[in-house]
Amino acid sequence: MNRDDFLMLNKDIVYLDNGATTLKPYILSESISDYYNNYSANAHRGDYDISLKVDNMYENSRELVRRFIGAKSKEQIVFTNNATDSLNKIIFGYFKNHLNKGDEVLITKSEHASNVLPWFELSDDIGININYIKLDSDLKVTLDNVKKSITPNTKVISIAHVTNVVGDVRPVKEIIEYAHKNNIKVLIDGSQSVPHMKINVEEMGADFLAFSAHKMCGPTGVGVLYVKEDLLNEIKPIIVGGGMNSTYEANEIRQYNEMPELLEAGTPNIAGVIGFGSVINYLSKIGMDKIEKYEHELKKYAIEKLKKVPNIIIYNETSESGIITFNMKDIFPQDVAIYLNKYNICIRAGNHCAKILKDEIGTKNTCRVSLYFYNNKNDIDRLVDALSNPNMINEII
Ligand code: ALA
Repeated sequence: MNRDDFLMLNKDIVYLDNGATTLKPYILSESISDYYNNYSANAHRGDYDISLKVDNMYENSRELVRRFIGAKSKEQIVFTNNATDSLNKIIFGYFKNHLNKGDEVLITKSEHASNVLPWFELSDDIGININYIKLDSDLKVTLDNVKKSITPNTKVISIAHVTNVVGDVRPVKEIIEYAHKNNIKVLIDGSQSVPHMKINVEEMGADFLAFSAHKMCGPTGVGVLYVKEDLLNEIKPIIVGGGMNSTYEANEIRQYNEMPELLEAGTPNIAGVIGFGSVINYLSKIGMDKIEKYEHELKKYAIEKLKKVPNIIIYNETSESGIITFNMKDIFPQDVAIYLNKYNICIRAGNHCAKILKDEIGTKNTCRVSLYFYNNKNDIDRLVDALSNPNMINEII
């Protein structure tokens, strides 16, 4: 789908590492160049034409993101550096001030490091406890398992909507509904879901949602943090400086701006945010439902073909997303990735920043294929051919 929009696809590569980052349509670099070549001014600081125009372009991207995820107001959309930054801003800017010693946070062992390590740090800082929701035999999270994990001390559930190795799509709406009935806040890492399916934050009900632009055809260095309306006034900035204050005096009295500026200290990635706006338009035109359906079909095709590859172990056959995690029996995953590279096939191998998943999946390292809408059956066929090569082991040695 839409392959002509991606100049990288003229290079005879099979790009199957979209979970790490996606390729970029040429309209992204066009809109970034347009900003640098024709405007270049800072945002929210100037009183001259080009700066005012930049203000509008920057805020237009915020409005596009608001609509894209179905948020009520632009105040709920904060531009950050990436999903990691968004998660840290909430864990240390909100939860640090709302949790007490002994309070419990529920995560899972399949979370990305960015949804684990900030909690470990907070545990050191204020003495919260971190517990893990048990996964089922398919490495999935069920509402039942969430219910079983909740104790009277549970105050937060912090989980990915779609995980980056198992690729399971969690029933977040049901989990959030149940959590809220029990006064538990829910933070959702949307890094692997927002790029691949239609998201409506109002329907989902999350208190906080984090995601990155670069995993959805956007630029690196731009992330989004969505905050539920009734929590907007309860967040403290963890980074302070220019752009987020309205006044301060020598006697240390200061007044900070409201959200979202409160969390956008310093000159932001203006070009990136403007470019992200053009990409949001681009994805919306294709249609997120169409993207989800297409990836789902392609995943089915890939699983059917991969299952026939001799000596393959697939770990997440029943996952619903476009992520396929596998190993080749008795071959180190990195060797598989290096071997595939000889055929211009790009996959990721390793622990994929999910270093405690090994306790659940039973292996430290895996190979991961992650699809996007510009992948096609030919990409899958080339992967399957390379993995089926009876000479593979000799080519690796
Ligand atoms: N979080 C990214 C991945 O899963 C980098 O590859």
